[in-house]
Amino acid sequence: MWGGINIAVHGNRPVLRVVSTRGARLYEDTKTQDRLFKGFSKSSHFLGESALEELNSLVGLSHIKELVFEIYAFAEVQKRRSKAGLAEENTILHMIFKGNPGTGKTTIARILGRLLFQGGLLDKGHVVEVERADLVGEYIGHTAQKTRESIRKALGGILFIDEAYSLARGGEKDFGKECIDCIVKGMEDHAKDMVFILAGYPREIESFLNTNPGLRSRFPIHLSFPDYTVDELVKIACLMLKKREYRLADGLLSLLENIIKEKIEQETIPSNARMVRNLIEKAIRRQAVRLVSDGSFSRQDLMLITSRELLESSVAPAWPR
Ligand SMILES: Nc1ncnc2c1ncn2[C@@H]1O[C@H](COP(=O)(O)OP(=O)(O)O)[C@@H](O)[C@H]1O
Ligand SMILES: [Mg+2]
Repeated sequence: MWGGINIAVHGNRPVLRVVSTRGARLYEDTKTQDRLFKGFSKSSHFLGESALEELNSLVGLSHIKELVFEIYAFAEVQKRRSKAGLAEENTILHMIFKGNPGTGKTTIARILGRLLFQGGLLDKGHVVEVERADLVGEYIGHTAQKTRESIRKALGGILFIDEAYSLARGGEKDFGKECIDCIVKGMEDHAKDMVFILAGYPREIESFLNTNPGLRSRFPIHLSFPDYTVDELVKIACLMLKKREYRLADGLLSLLENIIKEKIEQETIPSNARMVRNLIEKAIRRQAVRLVSDGSFSRQDLMLITSRELLESSVAPAWPR
């Protein structure tokens, strides 16, 4: 199936279900995207230009961009219907983000938080990122306390639970179960005050949801983040350089492309834009070493990344993160 939103019925509650798959390219052509963005820009008095611009500036992700708009538009219209005294559909916006590392999950969550804040749907729109260690405690009662504390911090914004399936890691006796129960309670108590996002590798998230069937129906929105193509990763690298006010020397795009292809072949788990970011940051440090050794600091020198740095960045290990 292509990307899109289905209104599916779970029990007697209609919910918004967003499904997308690799290769979903509803708005591949830039003309359609431009039209879409222009339409939304007209609503910028409540949408907030900066989050919108940031979303637009991301490479690829066309179906995710469109779905983010759809989620926003759906929720906005429900809010207005409610004000007009019309029946309101369910606007619970808890979400599942499935994707390999570096596919933009955290980036989209942050933008979404800002959009929902600027649209008046969240009071703050901040994102609190947590993982198992932040939620699961070491003794009875500790887990509930830690989980409730994270929920409290995320009130008015988004609680983004990374590698959510690790909560089920320890089996029945593990405190992870206590944590899941606490999250479920939080989702009900704060259905309108905050958004819960569970994120992680597609396969692990799927099996986590399969073993917790009650949980799946509580997350009406599911977004799939595909691995980037080589072409997209090259564009992401150029965007990262541009944002940092660096530029590649002329004629280096095919070298960059080959390095990225080689890196992908070496990876057991694709790390997508994260791999590209490491590459770029390493090249920037290698350039600094060259400039200091040569003593050349013209404005041009300070910006230029040469083939030497690209090659060095591809062989040397990245700084530990
Ligand atoms: N489509 C994109 N365009 C530009 N930069 C991107 C894109 N996707 C990810 N990035 C960048 O790559 C890095 C990793 O992205 P992130 O959102 O942390 O991925 P994830 O949460 O899926 O691991 C961030 O620096 C982010 O800004
Ligand atoms: Mg992340």
